[in-house]
Amino acid sequence: MRTTQMITRRGALGLCGGALAATARARSAAADAAATADLAAAARKAGLTFGAAVDLEILKDADFAALIRTQCDLIVPSQSLKMATIEPQFDAFQFEPGDALVEFAHASGKLARGHTIVWNDYAPDWTKSLSNAELAKALDAYIDAVAAHFAGRLQSWDIVNEPFWLGGDRPGSFRPGPWLAAFGEDYIERAFRRVAALDPTTKLVLNEAWTEWNDPIGIAVRRALLALIERLQDKGVKLDAIGLQGHILPHKPWDAEAFGAFLNKIAARGLDIYITELDIDNSGFVGDIAARDREAAQRTFAFLSTALACPAVNTVICWGLADNYSWYNDPWFQKQRRAAREARPLPFDAALQPKPMFEAIARAFADRKL
Ligand code: XIL
Repeated sequence: MRTTQMITRRGALGLCGGALAATARARSAAADAAATADLAAAARKAGLTFGAAVDLEILKDADFAALIRTQCDLIVPSQSLKMATIEPQFDAFQFEPGDALVEFAHASGKLARGHTIVWNDYAPDWTKSLSNAELAKALDAYIDAVAAHFAGRLQSWDIVNEPFWLGGDRPGSFRPGPWLAAFGEDYIERAFRRVAALDPTTKLVLNEAWTEWNDPIGIAVRRALLALIERLQDKGVKLDAIGLQGHILPHKPWDAEAFGAFLNKIAARGLDIYITELDIDNSGFVGDIAARDREAAQRTFAFLSTALACPAVNTVICWGLADNYSWYNDPWFQKQRRAAREARPLPFDAALQPKPMFEAIARAFADRKL
């Protein structure tokens, strides 16, 4: 496989250089690991599981599938386990795409993870024509069918995605949508309890965005998320991990100390933390591709090394692995771009070659002190 060969070749060159040059001899073990390891192996050494979001492209693109098999211990479907795919028409369930991806993972000796059972965003159109009472019944039926269908097959499930919404002047309040309308805040507890009853082995995850922003929105979402965790735990709801998406937006303020303190508060509640959707939208960076890739790597390293200082972080997942399959390069996303440039948000480029971001992730893993 071309990437493995390439990484191995680079690793060999790195070791050869180390034997010849004093500066290279002084390289840290971390740098050696970064130069030679695949991310899954580097993650394991750091007490982490590394994975990536993929979807049906994995079944069509053999080179990409090979890259995923080499680099990841876990995959998560980015689209095929969402309600829009599973129940596109009311009461007509479609499990085939999700099943195919879970089977790909297991046949490759990888873990599969679920994303996401309940999300107030991207609800299928049929939700618009139902009354709140009908929506409540529909959600219960959906949760039960999906949890039972995948029971025992998923390492973890994002039970609720993005409970909070940063909209308007009410940062930190609940994200509006059909499920909030039907149940109020209780939809969250309800979903966790129903899945726990049907699938006792999967890890139950509450997944949220924006918490790495050190602006009024990010600060409010952090505060709201911690309060929600406390309410759920006080009610005895089984909650195993908090997923923090980590879609890094470089123009947002970042404060390592504040983010680290937030992670420690989650950890103090006995929860694991997953970084669930790591990528960086660097389309707004100035400079040539090499400069942009270097800057993306630096930002990724700053974020990850802060996250990995918290021992509760045990999983890191990129939202995609190679730029050509990033959601930032989806046609619908192009319309809302802040810049005309192609986004280069992931550790591998469109030719499946590692970028500086690959080295940054490997270095953050290798540097982790357990
Ligand atoms: C994205 C998918 O990657 C896209 O293909 C789709 O069109 C929209 O959703 N946060 C989430 C993910 O929790 O579900 C989103 O995935 C990306 C942002």
